[in-house]
Amino acid sequence: MKIAVYPGSFDPITNGHLDIIKRGTKIFDKVIVAILVNVDKKGLFSVEERKELILKATKDIEGIEVIDFDGLLVDLLKEKEINVILKGLRNSTDFEYENTMDKINKKLNKDVETIFMISESEKSYISSSAVKQICRFGGEIDGMVPDSIKDDIEKKMRCK
Ligand code: PNS
Repeated sequence: MKIAVYPGSFDPITNGHLDIIKRGTKIFDKVIVAILVNVDKKGLFSVEERKELILKATKDIEGIEVIDFDGLLVDLLKEKEINVILKGLRNSTDFEYENTMDKINKKLNKDVETIFMISESEKSYISSSAVKQICRFGGEIDGMVPDSIKDDIEKKMRCK
């Protein structure tokens, strides 16, 4: 069984993430969506809230599992006996960051491989931080987040 871990902060999940998850399930038998802590980012949604939003947004997608993990990504992979990471690339900034992350993860475990998928161009401008900022100031996030969770995000951000 071909399994990949798709890690991220998912604070909150966006249509960019959803695109990678859907495309990932066409290549892998199973995609494990893993909510991990990014120490460089201050979270807004709790891990439980992020998980609920991901589950709601992906309820019609087969072949995925949603988990959270407190620790290094390589340790999660070891625990699950998986050595493939799935990541999305929106632009050259992502590339620079992910290039380093790949090298760090390989330093920690040389058997780990990261498979990169280029984001669809109409989704490449989307980020969780842009969603939060737009929503906080009452802007329209239509098309940036899954329809099924748009109200939940707006409610949390108190912009509606
Ligand atoms: O969605 P993000 O914020 O770009 O995701 C980044 C994330 C959470 C995948 C990354 O920060 C991560 O792997 N965190 C877990 C800790 C870890 O393994 N760090 C790598 C060594 S610096």
